[in-house]
Amino acid sequence: MKATFIGLGIMGSRMAENLLKNGVDVTVWNRSEGPMEELKAKGARVAPSAIEAVAGAHLVFSMLSTPEVVEKVFMKDDGVLSAMKEDSIWVDCSTVNPSFTVRALQAAEQEGVRFMDAPVAGTKPHAENAELVFFVGGDKEILEEVEPYLNMMGKKVLHIGENGKGTSFKMLVNIMLAQSMAIFSEAVLLGEKMGISRDFLLNVVPNLVVSAPFTGAKAELIRNDNYEVQFPLEWMHKDLHLAAVTAYELNQPLYLANLAKELYAEANKKGMGRLDFAAIHKFLEER
Ligand SMILES: NC(=O)c1ccc[n+]([C@@H]2O[C@H](COP(=O)([O-])OP(=O)(O)OC[C@H]3O[C@@H](n4cnc5c(N)ncnc54)[C@H](OP(=O)(O)O)[C@@H]3O)[C@@H](O)[C@H]2O)c1
Repeated sequence: MKATFIGLGIMGSRMAENLLKNGVDVTVWNRSEGPMEELKAKGARVAPSAIEAVAGAHLVFSMLSTPEVVEKVFMKDDGVLSAMKEDSIWVDCSTVNPSFTVRALQAAEQEGVRFMDAPVAGTKPHAENAELVFFVGGDKEILEEVEPYLNMMGKKVLHIGENGKGTSFKMLVNIMLAQSMAIFSEAVLLGEKMGISRDFLLNVVPNLVVSAPFTGAKAELIRNDNYEVQFPLEWMHKDLHLAAVTAYELNQPLYLANLAKELYAEANKKGMGRLDFAAIHKFLEER
């Protein structure tokens, strides 16, 4: 089995490593060299450029930060798509907006490349332990070819529908994630002001039926005042921005997510972008 992996950040490096662990012959490319060298030491082939990474490849995964970066790397005139062979498959796992996914599909089709959107739920430890959940948009036939690889990187594959439905579903998951984190933080901060101990709140609130279960893990970051990055706050801000763009495109009001977007925007502006998004707690506390 053979694959190319483009984008070796927090998530991509771990996903590519899981392909390697399962015996896949993996070629990698990343903008900066460090992550490529680390994966080379674990058995990956390193390509000198993105175009060379996809030369002759049948299956190419991408895990890049933003739609702008995916566009630059894949869809510009001299981008990766122009170098991919006909009938090969591009699986974009990046979190992007659905209308961008449709443009990516069109660009792929123009080059005779088959395309699937497959963003993920889960963060750094889930990527590390192959426990991601893939939200797939695209043809069933393509998914059948790709699924064995997804199963090496994740624990579940949900086929949501046609192209763009994977990124659509991911978007609604993330607007809930962003808001749930802010709601949890606000409640804990008020609880403390009312004289309830922080320890009690961090232990008990995550287990209430009204709480989002992921807040249990984030409570530990708050307890230790250590927001070491799992999911960068800057990308949560990006996801809320993309949700706002999508809501505009669909003429759909989005009151609360837009409010949350401005909180994350301000925290990002204050230099918290490369902390975990749970640092929205620290932001609210300091504010
Ligand atoms: N972290 C999470 O928990 C999580 C969970 C689900 C989904 N996601 C999504 O997954 C994607 C990747 O997230 P991540 O956490 O792995 O982010 P990350 O650590 O910031 O990695 C971003 C990747 O994009 C590359 N990149 C950025 N700007 C570039 C440019 N101008 N040209 C070429 N490459 C560029 C980076 O290359 P360099 O290494 O050179 O900077 C890196 O490979 C994002 O869309 C994010 O929203 C993240």
